[in-house]
Amino acid sequence: MSYLGIDLGTSGLRALLVGTDGVPIGSAESSYAVSNPAPGWAEQDPADWIAALDMAVEDLRARYPAFAELRGIGVAGHMHGATLLDAGDAVLRPCILWNDTRSEQEAAALDAMADVRALSANIVFPGFTAPKLLWVKRHEPEVFAKVAKVLLPAAYLNHHLTGAHVADMSDSAGTSWLDVGARGWSERLLEAGEMRRDQMPELVEGCAPAGDLRPELRRRWGLSGPVVVCGGAGDNAAAACGIGALQEGAGFVSLGTSGVVLLARERFSPAPETAVHTFCHAVPDHWYQMGVMLSATDSLNWLSRITSTRPADLTGELGDALQPPGDVRFLPYLSGERTPHNDSRIRGGFTGIATSTDRAGLTRAVLEGVSFGLRDSLEALKSTGADVGTLTAIGGGSASEYWLRLLATVLGVPLTIPAGREFGAALGAARLAQIAVTGAQPAEVITAPETRREIAPDATLAPAYDAAYQAFRAAYPGLKQIQ
Ligand code: XUL
Repeated sequence: MSYLGIDLGTSGLRALLVGTDGVPIGSAESSYAVSNPAPGWAEQDPADWIAALDMAVEDLRARYPAFAELRGIGVAGHMHGATLLDAGDAVLRPCILWNDTRSEQEAAALDAMADVRALSANIVFPGFTAPKLLWVKRHEPEVFAKVAKVLLPAAYLNHHLTGAHVADMSDSAGTSWLDVGARGWSERLLEAGEMRRDQMPELVEGCAPAGDLRPELRRRWGLSGPVVVCGGAGDNAAAACGIGALQEGAGFVSLGTSGVVLLARERFSPAPETAVHTFCHAVPDHWYQMGVMLSATDSLNWLSRITSTRPADLTGELGDALQPPGDVRFLPYLSGERTPHNDSRIRGGFTGIATSTDRAGLTRAVLEGVSFGLRDSLEALKSTGADVGTLTAIGGGSASEYWLRLLATVLGVPLTIPAGREFGAALGAARLAQIAVTGAQPAEVITAPETRREIAPDATLAPAYDAAYQAFRAAYPGLKQIQ
């Protein structure tokens, strides 16, 4: 038997094949673009996701005979995106993504309504799904009138795979239509968002079956037996499953397109008066909390574009040994910010540039600014009473040794680096599929990976980085903090 975990990320799709024992066999990747038709907007064509999936599957099939024994599939997706389908399941417009902040006014209006924060357990951020639909209603009424179903990106892939409209709890928690404590669509929240129950997909837990792979895909992929598609998860919940973060306080810091500090919670303990997100986990009776910054590796990618230098070359220029904080400060708010500021209008900036500032100085400032932004999320989580021991470092940015040492020092938390290459959202999604197929207990499958090493904060440089963090905080214009 084998299982397929699909990580439908913001910049590309990663498909990971794992064996019966949960051990990774091989992976394939295919990338796609984000379009920014206006400042603060971010969209993707769902057809690109399908094309990327087809390519990744063809690649896996060609290289790994174990693909023919596929029995389960799990999809993890970038969260909050609104994929709008008409009554014939045709996509009505490009998907509006998680880091699109056009629906600022609609989010503020929803957020101010009675019961909305209490039921959804969160601030209504502009990136969440409900305000996107209110924006579409106001600006594209002809599209809104045709919306028969709203699917999150992972649920859209579930639909492509099974033909059914099914979403999991963890992803649905980021819509502002879900009663996150009760784990079900909320009539009150749907009414506030001017949506109907029949426009929502059916809900299942992430590790429960959502449907069977369509016979047409089974044939095309050369599969004989039935293949179960599980509910799947939002990418952060799936990544938590990949590193075994189910028990209270276990968590990660992710240097992905977005930056995330996540802690698993065994009880539902929302903090909607803060910009900390509280969402359902991908297994029953579990939740998690996280702080989210919108531009983590996205900030480095931006620097990479304007300097025409690959991100790995930019970070490579710094060497591995951590230096004291530089003179240049970077505010990483290229797409606005969620935790802790909930400010979709703020934008990034450099200060302290001198004639002597070189490219490496700008890279250092970007890595520091993103690390300070993640410290903001960590502080916000701590303010809700969460206990933080160590955090597992995940995401593309964690390939940089310099960034890892910097981050451990800025957060004041040891970072665990797992052994092996596979411990992210794709592995988490494959694990959810394994549970759906075998009926295993989640805690038996969702285990922590072996630790390769631990990166401790640099005690000598910690005071200087603390002072630099305080200066970073003071630089936030207006300091409209919602913690
Ligand atoms: C979480 C969030 C991002 C996306 C992108 O709330 O918006 O982390 O899931 O990966």
